[in-house]
Amino acid sequence: KKVILSGIQPSGELTLGSYLGAIKNWVKLSDEYECYYMLADLHSITVRQNPADLRRRTLTQIAAYIACGLDPEKNTIFIQSHVPAHAELGWVLDCYTMFGELSRMTQFKDKSAKNADNINAGLFTYPALMAADILLYQADLVPVGEDQKQHVEICRDIANRFNGVYGETFRIPEPFIPKVGARVMSLTSPGNKMSKSDKDPNGCVYVLEKPEDIMRKFKKAVTDSDTERCVRYDRAEKPGVANLMAIYSAATGKTYEEIEREFDGKGYGAFKPAVGEAVVELFRPIREETERLLADKSYLESVYRAGAEKAGYVSNKTLRKVYKKVGFVAR
Ligand code: TYM
Repeated sequence: KKVILSGIQPSGELTLGSYLGAIKNWVKLSDEYECYYMLADLHSITVRQNPADLRRRTLTQIAAYIACGLDPEKNTIFIQSHVPAHAELGWVLDCYTMFGELSRMTQFKDKSAKNADNINAGLFTYPALMAADILLYQADLVPVGEDQKQHVEICRDIANRFNGVYGETFRIPEPFIPKVGARVMSLTSPGNKMSKSDKDPNGCVYVLEKPEDIMRKFKKAVTDSDTERCVRYDRAEKPGVANLMAIYSAATGKTYEEIEREFDGKGYGAFKPAVGEAVVELFRPIREETERLLADKSYLESVYRAGAEKAGYVSNKTLRKVYKKVGFVAR
């Protein structure tokens, strides 16, 4: 079986963007592949976190993974910090990653511009740790949103560089990016990516949010300033409408042509609440199941412990191979 690895940082609540960009595909691919789905808590401390919130969100995110349809019997669900090989290989790969290539990462540039008072070394070397996450499992495929594509590419470069020096060590992974939903935009400023760290709470919709809040945000969503007021897909001229259409399409499976026909002559007053409804219905079962799972902490504990054990075993095989190749004395 081919292998998948992907992860989400528990640095904020799960968003509609992460759901459509990543988790939806994780679920879809989970029958066909051997899958490792991670909670990237090591990555999350590159930005300052409140410890109690980080702990709570990590547990909630595990419950949400399961509620989204990832069966822990079939998928390895684990917390990154529980598997020491990630930090260990991360260090090794730091030494095979160039300052120049890290400087070109757009996410680093964005995040350091937003957090000018905390441009720490971890934020800078973040892609090397992410490469370690992927390469430890010899992953073939990495299902992510568009914004992570550059990080998968640098991972390929690092792996090729290492293989070039030491011979075949790492499998070279491919990114897997969905056709619809790869880049969900903010509801209030459709020029920006929907992000869990967005300062405007109305721009971002959360998977576990109350239906009335989801509806309110969609009803207020920015469409455009044109006078046409018709539901038509045009990314350049009508980015707000295009974003809502992409969300509606991803949530319902309808094509853009079907959506244009459905709202022909109806305007945004009918369209926006319809998108809200579709998202509410998409998330309702997930929210309910997450709440149910959160009531049973010992079950969640058993999931992440079993996950760490399996992930630890698999990742150590790669780590030992790497240590040997670079010339470390075996213990
Ligand atoms: P993170 O936590 O920022 O986002 C998690 C996943 O959600 C996708 N995503 C989006 N997709 C579409 N539209 C959006 N608005 C949107 N916002 C987020 C992201 O592309 C991502 O797939 N570095 C990663 C976490 C990570 C990782 C890994 C991923 C750590 N190690 C190894 C894959 C493999 C990150 O910060 O994702």
